[in-house]
Amino acid sequence: MTWTPSSWRGFPACHIPDDYPDSAALGAVESRLAKKPPLVVASEIEKLKTELARVCVGEAFLLQGGDCAESFAEFEADRITRYFRAFLQMAVVLTFAGGKHVVKLGRVAGQFAKPRSEPTEVKDGISLPSYRGDNINGAAFTPQSRIPDPERLIEAYHQSTASLNLLRALATGGYANLENVNRWNLAFARKQGKASVEYVKLCHRIEESLEFMNGLGLNGSVGIGTDAVDFFTSHEALLLGYEEAMTRQDQLFGSGAYYDTSAHMVWIGDRTRQLDHAHVEFCRGIANPIGVKCGPSLDPEELLALLELLNPKNEAGRIVLIARYGADKIAAGLPKLVRKVIEAGRSVVWSSDPMHGNTLKTASGYKTRPFERVVSEVSDFMDIVRAEGGYPGGVHLEMTGDDVTECTGGATPVTEEALASRYRTHCDPRLNADQAIEMAFIIAHSLRVGRQQRRMAAAGL
Ligand code: PEP
Ligand code: CO
Repeated sequence: MTWTPSSWRGFPACHIPDDYPDSAALGAVESRLAKKPPLVVASEIEKLKTELARVCVGEAFLLQGGDCAESFAEFEADRITRYFRAFLQMAVVLTFAGGKHVVKLGRVAGQFAKPRSEPTEVKDGISLPSYRGDNINGAAFTPQSRIPDPERLIEAYHQSTASLNLLRALATGGYANLENVNRWNLAFARKQGKASVEYVKLCHRIEESLEFMNGLGLNGSVGIGTDAVDFFTSHEALLLGYEEAMTRQDQLFGSGAYYDTSAHMVWIGDRTRQLDHAHVEFCRGIANPIGVKCGPSLDPEELLALLELLNPKNEAGRIVLIARYGADKIAAGLPKLVRKVIEAGRSVVWSSDPMHGNTLKTASGYKTRPFERVVSEVSDFMDIVRAEGGYPGGVHLEMTGDDVTECTGGATPVTEEALASRYRTHCDPRLNADQAIEMAFIIAHSLRVGRQQRRMAAAGL
């Protein structure tokens, strides 16, 4: 079947709203979007693919993270800066501990639309359509606010461009300076209770390495820049009308390939990965790297069929499989998936989303994720993928740079009672800055132990 940017319209689609009051107005907005400048360009998208191809073969590690849902109300420069800072802190720790390049992929600058478990929300006996993300309808619990409004797509586009503009400036304008980032990490490490000594030691080792590089005259020269990083963006390709409008045929390289220029990478959610549905149809035709969320309901044969559709040429760097089982389900579900994919000779990045399978509701009604369950899922993920002969190549986190109280636990624990104090998410609970950075230190520990064991084995000890 011939693919076009709009061929998905001939397929059944889940989680795309069909209740816009004026479909002509929606069409007009999509036409306006199609004329707007792309957020990212083909060469950057290909660069990310090259970096992900390195993850496929175990030469790099993928860090993907950001808000569950970006919001219009929380769109502030300081929030973006704090997020980027936490992200950099994590990336530095992981780079040092793993001894490998870290691919930095934000879940940002376009992450608005949400698939919802329930089509309606009931409060005090009143039932309204669910909130579906700021680019579709409003979070306020009023009938008016829950009506989908196409103009929200334009606002989301502009928020994405402005966010990306700041992120690009932060990534290349000196903010990412390694010595700064290590200083922030040291300040974090000092206040981590029992874990402080180990974390501070790691920061000191990074400091020594930086001094060594300075001594060699390598700081910022010969392409080993310590001041600038490549930062890529991603979001769930849920609202296909928007993604279609942002899809452009490459003019620069003359390849004729179509790129979804709304982000460097997009992913297909766990609820929209049906083989014969619209989301898979759309994603198979764009040249971007594609993520696929893999949850307990995914059968290994179905995954192979998905890989055949989405990556018939088995191109390395094209597919990121994002396992999101839940700490209590990963041991039963993931091994057979990894085995099948390896047996079939498929080149993929294996990444762990330890957030979406670990959500629970407290007695007082808050959706939360216990930090220890998140840690447990990542750790099991690493063991399982390794045991099956694969490379656990990444993590996908819902996180913020702010001091929110949404997930319980961590070294400076958020208690269940404290959740109410700064519970700000518009959708799922996120790791706060400290919890996210702690997560990086914990993963770093496991990466370092692995490397030390390999070194000792190589030395015959
Ligand atoms: C998400 O990443 O926000 C999400 C909805 O995930 P999943 O599709 O894995 O449930
Ligand atoms: Co989420």
